[in-house]
Amino acid sequence: MNLLIIGSGAREHAFAAALAANPGTEKIFIAPGNGGTAMMGGKVSNVPLKALQLEELLEFAGRNRVELTVVGPEQPLEAGIVDLFRAAGMKIVGPVQAAARLESSKVFAKEFMRRHGIPTAEYRVFGDEASSLSFAEELPPERFPLVIKASGLCAGKGVVVAMSRDEALTTLKEIFQDRIFGSAADEVVIEDFLRGQEASVFALTDGKDYRLFLPAQDHKRIGEGDTGKNTGGMGAYAPAPLVTPEVLRKVEERIIRPTLAGMSAEGYPYTGFLYVGLMIDRGEPSVVEFNARLGDPETQVVLPLLQSDLCDALLASVEGGLDTVPFAMRSGSAATVVMASGGYPDAFESGKRITIDPDAENAGDVMIFHAGTLFDGENLVTSGGRVLSVTAIGASLRESLERAYRTVGLIRFDGACYRRDIGAKAL
Ligand code: AMP
Ligand code: GLY
Repeated sequence: MNLLIIGSGAREHAFAAALAANPGTEKIFIAPGNGGTAMMGGKVSNVPLKALQLEELLEFAGRNRVELTVVGPEQPLEAGIVDLFRAAGMKIVGPVQAAARLESSKVFAKEFMRRHGIPTAEYRVFGDEASSLSFAEELPPERFPLVIKASGLCAGKGVVVAMSRDEALTTLKEIFQDRIFGSAADEVVIEDFLRGQEASVFALTDGKDYRLFLPAQDHKRIGEGDTGKNTGGMGAYAPAPLVTPEVLRKVEERIIRPTLAGMSAEGYPYTGFLYVGLMIDRGEPSVVEFNARLGDPETQVVLPLLQSDLCDALLASVEGGLDTVPFAMRSGSAATVVMASGGYPDAFESGKRITIDPDAENAGDVMIFHAGTLFDGENLVTSGGRVLSVTAIGASLRESLERAYRTVGLIRFDGACYRRDIGAKAL
């Protein structure tokens, strides 16, 4: 069976590694992939098509007898790639455009949660500066901090936690006058600040049944101790002990089941991956955000912990019958440490030569997933902010972290930076 993976990050590299493990897969194409997927060889190869070239991707899939397509990032889902492929009779993992609004429109997601009684922060929606400013001006001081969000996709950057009224007013002016989030903030959600700790739960669903991966925790800030700017994610680990069996039961009962039932009842059954970003406060979960895909870097810990076959489960998410396929997790723990270019998430330089000690590549239970890398047939160089993601599995979180950091020490490029405290909170 031939497969197509869409995307270029470490998440897609991890998908390729997991799918290549199925002996039934013949060719695995990645569009556009990265330096790491270029070097995999064997059945895996890069295709020079970008994630938003929907018509070209469909044409490529048809011409290359692709039987299943997996979408990594959110932009093609928002653009309707699943609708397009399905209309052409092609199998593709992910939600249709109307269902992907759980991620692509925060206004849709919040209103949906309100309609279905799903726990999330109280909110208001604003479409213009004047009404949002008067709302912020009239709030009593104890209502701060406030969270201000662009409704549309913003590559994880469209959220501001305003600590004070002044900060909220400044942010709203920047959004509506300076258009810092562009048209993604034509509508803005202002919501209550939630206290607690964050974790993520990932479901794979065929619209009716669902299966859960192990819960994970991301590290969004660039600096150790969760300081500094937000990034795409600097590391992750799974399972996250914060998500106890009792918390998970509440997440399934109060969030996942009503979400799937609600999406079906409203006429756009949700299929593919559902990423539930949670705030957990004294054992009570509420939704911070939904994503319509797996997370990056969470995928790099969640997929290596799947013991059963990923390809079979993905096919079942498209064809139905997900409740009947094997879906089992390994015991133990996984951790991933992201190595980034110096300067990230602000401006950074690219084209730095990357050297990986051969011992790193041979270490058991360690996987190096590339993101911002390019391979010219001879050299591997940096080409992005997040450069690679080093995953290790172990019997315990401590062991997986030790293995991951040992390997990080064997990888070099100018300006490399990474957090030294991934997973520290859970030890
Ligand atoms: P989002 O893109 O909605 O996931 O928001 C990005 C990050 O902002 C989240 O991972 C949280 O750390 C933070 N955040 C978002 N909404 C809230 C909230 N209501 N309360 C506290 N923190 C939040
Ligand atoms: N790691 C967060 C995300 O993928 O959105």
